[in-house]
Formats: sequence, structure tokens, C-alpha cells
Amino acid sequence: MAKNKQKQPPTDNKFQAIISHCKEYGFIFPSSEIYDGLQAVYDYGQMGSELKKNIKDYWWKSMTQLADENIVGIDAAIFMHPTTWKASGHVDNFNDPMIDNKDSKKRYRVDHLIEEYAAALSAEGKENEAAALLASMETLLAKDDFTGLKKMIDDNKMQCAVSHTCNWTEIRQFNLMFSTEFGTAVSSEEGNNIVYLRPETAQGIFVNFLNVQKTGRLKIPFGIAQIGKAFRNEIVARQFVFRMREFEQMEMQFFVRPGTQKEWYEKWKAKRMQWHESLGMPAAKYRFHDHVKLAHYADAACDIEYEFPIGFKELEGIHSRTDFDLQQHQQYSKKKMQYFDNDLNPETGKPYGNYIPYVIETSIGLDRMFLAVISQAYEEQDLSLPAGEAGTEEKKDSRVVLKLPPVLAPIKLAVLPLTKKDGLPAIAEEIIQACKPHFRCFYEEKDSIGKRYRRMDALGTPYCVTVDHQTKEDQTVTIRHRDSMEQERVPIDSLREIVMAGL
Ligand code: GAP
Repeated sequence: MAKNKQKQPPTDNKFQAIISHCKEYGFIFPSSEIYDGLQAVYDYGQMGSELKKNIKDYWWKSMTQLADENIVGIDAAIFMHPTTWKASGHVDNFNDPMIDNKDSKKRYRVDHLIEEYAAALSAEGKENEAAALLASMETLLAKDDFTGLKKMIDDNKMQCAVSHTCNWTEIRQFNLMFSTEFGTAVSSEEGNNIVYLRPETAQGIFVNFLNVQKTGRLKIPFGIAQIGKAFRNEIVARQFVFRMREFEQMEMQFFVRPGTQKEWYEKWKAKRMQWHESLGMPAAKYRFHDHVKLAHYADAACDIEYEFPIGFKELEGIHSRTDFDLQQHQQYSKKKMQYFDNDLNPETGKPYGNYIPYVIETSIGLDRMFLAVISQAYEEQDLSLPAGEAGTEEKKDSRVVLKLPPVLAPIKLAVLPLTKKDGLPAIAEEIIQACKPHFRCFYEEKDSIGKRYRRMDALGTPYCVTVDHQTKEDQTVTIRHRDSMEQERVPIDSLREIVMAGL
């Protein structure tokens, strides 16, 4: 047996290796690459779009069809009336503090600049100093104390990574929304044809709250889920698909009776963590991070962080958004956003009556989930056979395998005829015809079986079957399991069931 040693590259190299792997195997390409790409914009290729779609489907099914709560889905437009963003607070508050280096002209997000400096301190063994710095940064950010933050940058002589100087501008706020123009006026205000590309999908849910509630005859508590594109003019967009200017969110707004939001917030924290674990993602790679500085709409908020190869980073947000958004839309649109609750309040013996519901939001970045899944799955394995006692030489071998959860794998079954002749391709074709209505199959007849297995490992295909001459005799094939590389002989008739069992 080959020795199956895991030889993981150091984290930085692992991240680079994953980026290269995504490009080489058709998962992710830089956008418009023939024109040298567009910063922080990416295209999903033939394998990536399948994996991404499978993540979406898994989320959608568990958040709607399988949820214990009553949750329905919608698909709202990206463009919304501009007043939406005034009401939501994004026009006035969706800002990041930025600082520019006067020599290199490079712009930094202030928290990123300080975090990188703290990471460098930690790398030098000064963990306590780094932790203290980050704690005071959080406090200063929470107070929007730009003078204090600037002093921190100056006192610590934080340098620009390009010019290596400390020649900084003052700190300024920068709005993250992209805007564009409609051909006609959309409002009575100045600049009346300006519309925004939505920076979050949530507002499409809020403005449709009563449409959905009334037409669906939904009773509180209930949820509305949505998957869709969001756009943010990230100043420091980097780290591959972790921070992009165009990305996808999978969001769910859960409408509850005022006063019950704390209880639902805790429930959704637990439920969302269980969702990640249900995919086989290890609990040790996750943690909660409570927000110190709450967004303008929240009374409690936390991130679910995952340990990416670049460290623990935000993957999902759980926010107790109060009744802020619905109140604001009621005020700006002058349309009632109230719900009538005819359940009896046990304290008064009367119906709860009219109120604006409170909202718990779960918001996960689809692209970040993609990155988490692929980072978790990526393994470089050394399969070399040591030199034998009988004098045989060491046999070098290795593989890259994506140990994707089968339900997410782009291809579930590869069907490989041993040769291109003797009627073996026709049998392979029959297997594909029988299986393809149920899951994605792949046919490959080129190269040696060993090379074809390696290619399927790199794509994360959980099963390969080889059709050989024995198949013609007894209607059996060899099935090879991706993770263990074990092989067994099974009847063709059992293939569908074997593959479906893992989905
Ligand atoms: N509706 C709430 C909201 O948008 P958020 O924390 O700003 O909250 C939610 O974003 C999630 O969207 C994040 O946890 C992250 O996974 C993802 N996300 C945010 N900005 C992103 C970006 N520039 N690129 C990729 N994903 C992003």
C-alpha cells in the first residue's frame, strides 16, 4: 500500500496553491483575463460554477424546504429605488475609514493597516503588544475616533507596504456603494437618475416584507431568504474571492415579535453553526466573534469566523437588526409596515395587535463559503513508496485531492473505460445515461487510468468507475473511492445507489 502522508504547505503557500489550483482546474479565473483582469473581480469556470451552485442549493434547501421554521424565498432586483438606500442608512453610514500614503498614493482601510502591523508584531513574538493594539483599535473604531486612530498609526510608525514611508494623510470616510445612471429620472431629487448597485440583498427582502407576508398569509415568526449579487466598492479588495467588488450573498431575514429577538438571535447563532458542521466542516475551524462596534441597525451582532489559510476571518454575520429597517422604510415611503398579530398575549389576555416586527438576519457570503469549502478540502499528499528491503528503489508519487463533501462536488461520478475499444466506451455510455438524470457524471477515455484518477481527485470527484473486459462478462465495474483510494468490484446496477447514498 502507498503511504498516505499529508504534506500541507505553509499557510501562505497553501493559499497561493489553492488560487493556482482553482485556475488550473477550471474553478475560478480572473475576470476578463485577456485584458489583464479587473482588480478583485473573478469569474467562476466550469467546475467552480457547479461547486458554487451546489453550495447555493444546499443553503437554499436547508434554509427553506428543510427548515423547522416557516421560511420562504424571493429573488428581488439588484436595482432598487434610491430612497431605499437613504432609508437603510447606507447613503450616510456605509463608510470605511481610509488613509492614503502621500508617497505611494496607495489607499488603505485603517483597520487593515493596523491589523497587518499587529500581525507583524505577533510574528516577532510580541503577541501581548499586538493584542493590546487591536483592543484599542476596536475601541477607537467604535467611537469613530479618527484622531486617536491616526495617532496610533503615527506613534507606531506604521509604514506603507509600497513606499515604506510613514507619510500619511488624515483619515477620511469613504462610501462603499457603486452608483450608476438610469436613462430617465427615478426621483424628484437632485441627480435624479442616480441608482445604486445594491450593497446587500437584505433591503430587497425588507421592502417586500408585506407583499410576501400578505400573499403568503404568513404568521410571525417567519423568514424570507434570498440569494443574489451584491456590490461594494472595496478600497482594499484582495485575498482572492475573500473580498471582492462583486460578490454573492445568501441572506435570511427572520421576522419576530418584539421582545423575543434575543432568544431568536441565540437560536440562529446555534442553527447556523450546525449548518456548517452538517457539511463535515470541523468545529475547531470555527469561532464566534462578537461585534464591539455595532452597525447602525443592530442591537446585537456577531461573525461566524472560519480559519482560512490566511487566518480566522469573517465568513457569516448574524445580526439582530431590531425594527430599524422596517421603521425606516415606513418613515421614508409613508407606507405602513405593520403586522397584525392576533395571537393572545398571556399577560393581557388580548391579541398582541399591530406592531413592526423585529428582525434576526443571517448573512453568509457565497464566495467566502466557496473559499472555506475549497480550503478545507485541499490536500497535497505524498504517496511515495519507500525503498524495499529486497533492494527496490523508492517510488516517488504524490497527488492533490479535493476532499469535498460529495453533496457539493461538481462531478459525482467519473466513468472511465479502460480502453477506447472492445465495446468498453459503449458500456460506459450506458452507465452515464442511467445515472445522469440523478447526478452529474463525467466521461473520460484519454490517458492512463492512473492519470485519470489523479485528475478526478484534483476536481474532488468522490467516485470513479472503471469499465474493463470483466465488465462484459459479469456486468461489474471497479469503483474507486476518492479519499481512501480503495477499490472494489460492484455490480453496475448498484452504482446509482452507492453514489446517491453520499449525497
Ligand atoms: N446584510 C448584512 C450584511 O451585508 P455584512 O457583514 O456586511 O452584512 C455579510 O456581509 C457577508 O457577506 C459577510 O459575512 C461576507 O461573507 C460577505 N461579504 C461582505 N463583503 C464581501 C466582499 N467584499 N467580498 C466577498 N464577500 C463579502
